[in-house]
Amino acid sequence: MSLLKSPPLSLYVHLPWCVRKCPYCDFNSYTLKTELPESQYIAALERDLDAQADDVRGRPIISVFFGGGTPSLFAPESIGRILEAARSRLQFSDDCEITLEANPGTVERGRFTGYRAAGVNRVSLGAQSFDAAQLQKLGRIHSPAETQRAAEELHAAGLSNFNLDLMYALPGQDTAAAVRDVEQAVDLSPAHLSHYQLTMEPGTQFAANPPPLPGDDAAAEMLTSCHEVLARVGFAQYEVSAYASPGRQCRHNLNYWTFGDYVGIGAGAHGKLTFESRGEIVRTTQQREPRRYQAGAPDAMGRQRVPDVDLPFEFMMNALRLTDGFERASFADRTGLDWSTVRPRLAALESRGLLVSDDRMCKPTALGLRFLNEMLLELLPESADLAGKRALSTGS
Ligand SMILES: C[S@@+](CC[C@H](N)C(=O)[O-])C[C@H]1O[C@@H](n2cnc3c(N)ncnc32)[C@H](O)[C@@H]1O
Ligand code: SF4
Repeated sequence: MSLLKSPPLSLYVHLPWCVRKCPYCDFNSYTLKTELPESQYIAALERDLDAQADDVRGRPIISVFFGGGTPSLFAPESIGRILEAARSRLQFSDDCEITLEANPGTVERGRFTGYRAAGVNRVSLGAQSFDAAQLQKLGRIHSPAETQRAAEELHAAGLSNFNLDLMYALPGQDTAAAVRDVEQAVDLSPAHLSHYQLTMEPGTQFAANPPPLPGDDAAAEMLTSCHEVLARVGFAQYEVSAYASPGRQCRHNLNYWTFGDYVGIGAGAHGKLTFESRGEIVRTTQQREPRRYQAGAPDAMGRQRVPDVDLPFEFMMNALRLTDGFERASFADRTGLDWSTVRPRLAALESRGLLVSDDRMCKPTALGLRFLNEMLLELLPESADLAGKRALSTGS
C-alpha cells in the first residue's frame, strides 16, 4: 500500500502578457501587441477549470496565485470573473489567500481597490530596484516614484499584505546600492520581500548580450549585507529568496516548497496533483503560446505521472529551500516513499555540513542554503544526466 496522502491544494492562474518584455526575463510572458483578449482568455481558463475540476473534487483550495506575465493588465472585473469561475467549480477554504502580481507601471489610481473588491487579499509588486538608472537598464516601464505611489495605494486600499520583488547583483551595482534598495523597499512597509539575484537566463536578451555584472564574491557580500538590514527591521528569511514579517509568509509559495499540490491553469501553467487512491503524482502542463492555448481542445493539456525515481529529488528541490527545512514524516506522506530511500544520501550531505537532521526534522545549514545547487546534484536520480543539470537555478 502506498504511503501517499493528499497534501494541501492551491490554484495557479497564468496571465501571460506584459507591456514590454524585460531583457532578463524568461518567464512565459509576451509583449502585448494588440488589445488584451480578456474575454477569450477567460473562456479558455473556464474550459481549463472544467477539464480539471473532477480531479480535485472535495479538496479545499487554500491559496490562489495570479502570476505572469503581468496580471495587473487585467481589469479588476476580469479578475473577479476568473475568481467566480474558479469558485463555482472548486471549493475555496474560508481563509483562502488570493495573490495577484502587479507591475507598478500598470496600476492606475483606484485599481487596487477594484482588485480587493474582486476578492484579491495579497499583492506582489515588481519593484526590482529604486534606482532610476538601474530600472532603465533593466528595461522596466516604471520609475521608483511609481513603485512608491503603488505601495501607498496598496495600504490605502486595505491591501497591506503585499510583497515587493527586488533583484540584486544588478549591472554595475555595489553593496551600498543594493542595501539602499532594500532600505527603500522596507520604508514602504511591505509585509514580505522577495530578494532575487539577477541571473542570465538562456534565450533572453541579457544572455545574448550580457551587461557587466558584479562577480560572485561581490554578490555574496551584497546578500549578506542586505540580509543583515532585513533581519534588523524584523524581516526573517524563511526561504532562499523570501523574507517576511511575522505571520506574513506566502502561503501559496509555502505550499509549493512543502511539495503541496496545485491546479495550474492558463498558458504554459504547470500543475501537480496527488491521486492518493491510485498512489500517483501527476504533473500537468498547458500549451505555452497564448493563441494556441486559447484555441486548444480540452485534451491539449499534458498529464504525466512522476516516476518514483524522480520523487526524492523533486521533494528535496523544494523542501531544502526552506530555512526551517521539513518534517521527516512529510517525505513519506508527500512522495509515497519510505525515508530509507533518501537516508544514505542525506547522511552524506550531513557529514559535509550541508544539512542537519534529528528524528523529526531535516533542514539545510547556512552553508547548505548557500550551496543548494551542489547539494541537490547529490540527490539527482542516478540515471539522470548530471552534466546537463549543472545549471539548476535556485532563483536567488
Ligand atoms: C512574473 S515577475 C513579477 C510581476 C511582473 N511581471 C513584474 O515584473 O513586475 C516575477 C519576478 O521574478 C523576478 N525575475 C524575473 N527574471 C529574473 C531573473 N532573470 N533573475 C532574477 N529574478 C528574476 C523579478 O523580480 C520579477 O518581479
Ligand atoms: S519581469 Fe515581469 S514585466 Fe518583465 S517581462 Fe517578466 S513577467 Fe513581464
